[in-house]
Amino acid sequence: MDNPALSLFTSLPEYEALKKHFKDISSLKMRDQFKDDPQRFSRFTLTAADLNLDYSKNRITTDTLPLLFDLARARDLPSSITAMFQGELINRSEQRPALHTALRNFSDEPVLVDGVDVMPEVRSTLTRMKEFCWRIRNQHWRGFSNKPFTDVVSIGIGGSFLGPKLASQALKPYWGKKIDCHYLANIDGSNLTEVLQGLNPETTLFIIQSKSFGTQETLKNATECRQWFLDNGGEEKDLPRHFTAVTANVAKAKKFGINEENIFPMWDWVGGRYSLWSAIGLPLMLTIGHENFRQLLQGAFEMDCHFKTSPFEQNMPVIMGLLGVWYVNFFDAQSHAILPYDHYLRGLPAHIQQLDMESNGKSVNINGNKLDYQAGPIIWGGVGSNGQHAYHQLLHQGTQFAPCDFILPLMTHNPVDHFHELLVSNCLSQSQALMQGKSLQEAESELKEAGFSEPDLSVLAPQKEIPGNRPSNTLFFDKATPKVVGALIALYEHKVFVQGQIWGVNSFDQWGVELGKQLGDQVHNALLDEPGAAADGMFDASTAGLIDAFRSMKNKL
Ligand code: F6P
Repeated sequence: MDNPALSLFTSLPEYEALKKHFKDISSLKMRDQFKDDPQRFSRFTLTAADLNLDYSKNRITTDTLPLLFDLARARDLPSSITAMFQGELINRSEQRPALHTALRNFSDEPVLVDGVDVMPEVRSTLTRMKEFCWRIRNQHWRGFSNKPFTDVVSIGIGGSFLGPKLASQALKPYWGKKIDCHYLANIDGSNLTEVLQGLNPETTLFIIQSKSFGTQETLKNATECRQWFLDNGGEEKDLPRHFTAVTANVAKAKKFGINEENIFPMWDWVGGRYSLWSAIGLPLMLTIGHENFRQLLQGAFEMDCHFKTSPFEQNMPVIMGLLGVWYVNFFDAQSHAILPYDHYLRGLPAHIQQLDMESNGKSVNINGNKLDYQAGPIIWGGVGSNGQHAYHQLLHQGTQFAPCDFILPLMTHNPVDHFHELLVSNCLSQSQALMQGKSLQEAESELKEAGFSEPDLSVLAPQKEIPGNRPSNTLFFDKATPKVVGALIALYEHKVFVQGQIWGVNSFDQWGVELGKQLGDQVHNALLDEPGAAADGMFDASTAGLIDAFRSMKNKL
């Protein structure tokens, strides 16, 4: 039976009201709105968990968000938020809760899964992580030749890679004792070779990060790293000192040869892309230490409390999520750009890509009904100001409508001359240019002042016109501290959740990745020229042709 809150939202009166509102306001120019309302910045800026969101450069009037809040209420968002935090089986296709918030729950409230409070195990795991990291960082746990560890190799992919990598990159200024962290994700000999190059097996710790302990890339990399260790001075008896695992599948990890006391648990009720806060964060804790990791959790916890308790009008994840729906479903935006103006946050777009696109890149709703509207956008982006010399041309003059999130620390970790003022000025002026643009008349008068006249003028001026009226948010904060980074990542987790609820999709499963894995085995056997692996008609002509190309190249070697 369809849950009315989960019907296709295009059938709702609240959707119709927004469609009418879109017609009424879509021709308004933000540059005029700023002229007409000097309070626009203060009116559309809010603060939560040490983050500030300037959402004044959006295609909205004071009526827009209330209409979006009506849609959110019609989708029963308040109950969905409660259901998530309370551990209801909101991941319906896998019959699981989505309780990444329990991993940073510093309240005294229990969190029940199948009637059992999971908080004691969450806390004991965090204590185990703390003790493990303390022993490594203080050289009590040493390698087989009794040397302290200098390097940790985190072997994992997807959520077992992107979150920890982003956070350890973002918090490089907080790396204490000299433990270098390396991430090995891809099933690519070059990635493996590059990571192991220069490492000393005596002083290298491996952490195999896999919720399923069944991911091909991770298991192959782990096997190769184990062989590298044994080929370079390590012995079987030394493996327990140098290999640990983080997984929900302890049996498989033990079968691989990891000692049980070296296995840190994950739980089915935490999705991979939401697992940074779990023992998957071990490589991060090893580099930044327990206290900084706890600050990361604290920031996320404060964003959780904000999300759970704030009225929609002051709710940062709700507003960001609904503005995204406004652009996807009414402005037909196909993508959304994440533009951190901070070298240390350069990994943020890649993490949010998985977080957003693996969560809401769906085309049927939670009841299995095909959507008759767009859902998850394409997430892309990169560090500023580099992007201004790569893709900002499209943002300013392209035919694509791509809303942007500018992410800006007001203070840098590394003051150099006026570099930070220049970086900040680039960030602010880019969002300003996207909003105000340059009219044809302004382009013409600039060209006339530069001495241009007809016939060149009427050819050049349109090339220099900048449409403007292109929306962006600016998320700004004092400094990218562990607490701020935790709040920032949690903000996007909840933004994605809000959108998934509006679109009625399950943001916590990822069945779409299964087919590629299934087909991969057949292709792999064919590439290896296994007998009968490429029987006539087994593959389409393209796949068969490509397999032949690979095999003929291989035969030349
Ligand atoms: O991409 C599919 C996926 O299951 C992701 O959701 C997950 O983060 C990644 O593969 C790795 O999975 P695991 O942690 O089980 O190795």
